[in-house]
Amino acid sequence: MDLSTDYMGLALRNPLVASASPLSRTVDGVRRLVDSGVGAVVLFSLFEEQLLREAAQNARLVDAGSESFAESLSYFPAAVEEDPGPRRYLSLLERAAAAVDVPVIASLNGVTPGGWADYAAAMQAAGAAAIELNVYYLPGDPHISGRDVEQRHIDVLMRIKEAVTVPVAVKLSPYFSSTGEMALRLDDAGADGLVLFNRFLQPDIDPETIAVVPAVGLSSPAEARLPRTWIALLRGRVRAALAATTGVDGPADVARYLLAGADVVMTASALLRYGAEHAAVLLDGLSEWMARKGFTAVDQLRGLLSVPASTDQSAHERMGYVSAMREANRGLYGPWRP
Ligand SMILES: Cc1cc2nc3c(=O)[nH]c(=O)nc-3n(C[C@H](O)[C@H](O)[C@H](O)COP(=O)(O)O)c2cc1C
Repeated sequence: MDLSTDYMGLALRNPLVASASPLSRTVDGVRRLVDSGVGAVVLFSLFEEQLLREAAQNARLVDAGSESFAESLSYFPAAVEEDPGPRRYLSLLERAAAAVDVPVIASLNGVTPGGWADYAAAMQAAGAAAIELNVYYLPGDPHISGRDVEQRHIDVLMRIKEAVTVPVAVKLSPYFSSTGEMALRLDDAGADGLVLFNRFLQPDIDPETIAVVPAVGLSSPAEARLPRTWIALLRGRVRAALAATTGVDGPADVARYLLAGADVVMTASALLRYGAEHAAVLLDGLSEWMARKGFTAVDQLRGLLSVPASTDQSAHERMGYVSAMREANRGLYGPWRP
């Protein structure tokens, strides 16, 4: 079975990618994911706030009159211990990239187009095959306009694109007035990949303790419907590669995303729930399904159930994916036959 896949110009052995999660916090963790078969690994995110904190610490050390940064560290052991994030991240990235034979993608999480974004260059130097930019932004100020929120994404992307030559993917939110136009704008601004979608951790309220509590739930397959529909719509309409993230539990979920048009399918919750070894179950199941359906290569099935670019948009606007597919007379009246 030929599962080989192109993702933003990276040649992957298969389309299954380990999405950013705590499973990639150690080199052993990354190795375990790769041994289980994934085609690429996205490391957990390094946050803008961590980089800004480190920059502020560096500035404090310079202000203190130290001759060199390395020497000055010994003067401020507490400050260094406080936030060793960025340098530890680069060290992990370098060791992980050297330890495995699949692309390791670094993840930067930020919302302002500041100097922190230049850190992407250090990530590339440390061996990142690509950068995934997670714009984790919840515009809490009700006065911020939608256009400003969108522009923020473009500005951060452009700043990172200027810093690196490796591909840059943007992991975006589903909460735009016009998600499709946002995708097109990111595409125009040079995004090499779009990762659909960011899954925000939404706090809960505990009525017993009368307190706001963090809710870090794992996903369920039903949540895949929204990103899958957008992938089906965007396929063929953007130059950027499309990565699916959210709701993969079993092999059928991987197949669904590929049929909708995803170039790669990412998974985090399932690997956290069942262990990194679950990647092999997903891949074996995908191959078994492909064989049963008469496919010999993943390229034969990718996008079979995407919405053709020629489809009348008005049919889609009111009735959605199903009516658009009916209009295109695709995939509704029985199984695909090779
Ligand atoms: C515990 C946990 C930690 C995560 N950490 C990150 C992160 O550091 N950066 C990021 O971009 N996404 C992070 N994610 C989001 C996942 O990469 C993924 O996009 C999301 O969980 C949806 O995919 P899933 O349904 O396969 O879990 C995290 C998810 C979980 C559950």
